[in-house]
Amino acid sequence: MDVQFDFTGKNAVVFGGTTGINLAVADAFAAAGASVAVASRKQANVDAAVERLRAHGGKVSGFVCDVRDMDSVSEAFETVATQWGPVDVLVSGAAGNFLAEAAALSSNGFKVVVDIDLNGTFHVMRAGFEHLSPGASVINITAPQAWIPVRYQAHVCAAKAGVDQLTRVLALEWGSKGIRVNAIAPGPIAGTEGMARLSPNDPNGEGIKTIPLGRFGSKKEIADLALFLSSSAASYISGAVIPCDGGGSHESIRAVEEAGRVFAAR
Ligand code: COA
Ligand code: NAP
Repeated sequence: MDVQFDFTGKNAVVFGGTTGINLAVADAFAAAGASVAVASRKQANVDAAVERLRAHGGKVSGFVCDVRDMDSVSEAFETVATQWGPVDVLVSGAAGNFLAEAAALSSNGFKVVVDIDLNGTFHVMRAGFEHLSPGASVINITAPQAWIPVRYQAHVCAAKAGVDQLTRVLALEWGSKGIRVNAIAPGPIAGTEGMARLSPNDPNGEGIKTIPLGRFGSKKEIADLALFLSSSAASYISGAVIPCDGGGSHESIRAVEEAGRVFAAR
């Protein structure tokens, strides 16, 4: 990265931060000097993430926590705040996803994704609020499915649309405390569980034609945006849902334009 961000003396907490994109985000904050806590359901993921983050030499903590359970989220915050003090950077990125046609999705199948992505984000925001430092940066990890309808993603589209609106409302309510609340909407990111599930035949986007920049993104590109959004360089950005997707989420507009051209040429 050309720009160096310094988070020395800051505390960052990343829910769902033990694998994939969110771990890259946690890693970037640890590399930039922050004390970093990560939380997710599986002990093995927590242990591996903590070991990786420790390599940066700063303070690291890991919590086994299910964001669907408000008590386990609150306990993680209590421990962090007691040991380290107020939270300067809060990232909510826990999510679940699978391909399923709506007509084949059970009530529980729809609910599980809404519970993790949307209700879980509310739990993280609600439990975290009292532990945030003045001027804290809060980032929710959303997805372009929040505003682009995608087949076999009814559960995710609905949940992430809720995450986006939650982000905007909390920016309104918490702005007077100097707290900025934003969301990052990654496009398809190579080497992730998400793309292994949604694009199993091409999880790294080698044959991708529908992204203007011609490739999937990297975990580091999302982490860099999280660093920027939490830095003083972004001090007037709040309530924003920022795509980091190589321009890919405009492709549906291009498809409409193309249809218009075909129509006009008739
Ligand atoms: N198609 C249709 N329904 C599915 C499904 C699939 N591929 N996978 C799970 N479900 C349904 C289950 O059948 C169940 O519904 P039921 O009780 O009516 O049978 C419901 O979803 C809950 O499944 P369960 O396995 O009990 O949930 P869980 O809490 O153990 O796991 C998931 C949550 C399903 C989201 C799981 O995929 C997960 O842990 N994901 C985290 C990692 C991830 O998705 N990463 C990508 C992020 S982009
Ligand atoms: P991932 O590696 O599966 O990350 C999901 C993380 O959430 C894991 O650490 C998982 O760990 C944790 N988690 C899942 N359910 C949880 C729960 N109930 N409580 C607490 N933690 C839970 O997936 P990813 O592909 O990197 O995606 C990360 C984020 O980016 C998600 O918010 C996703 O929607 C978003 N996103 C991804 C892409 C992409 O291309 N991959 C695109 C757009 C948006 P445990 O299993 O240990 O709980």
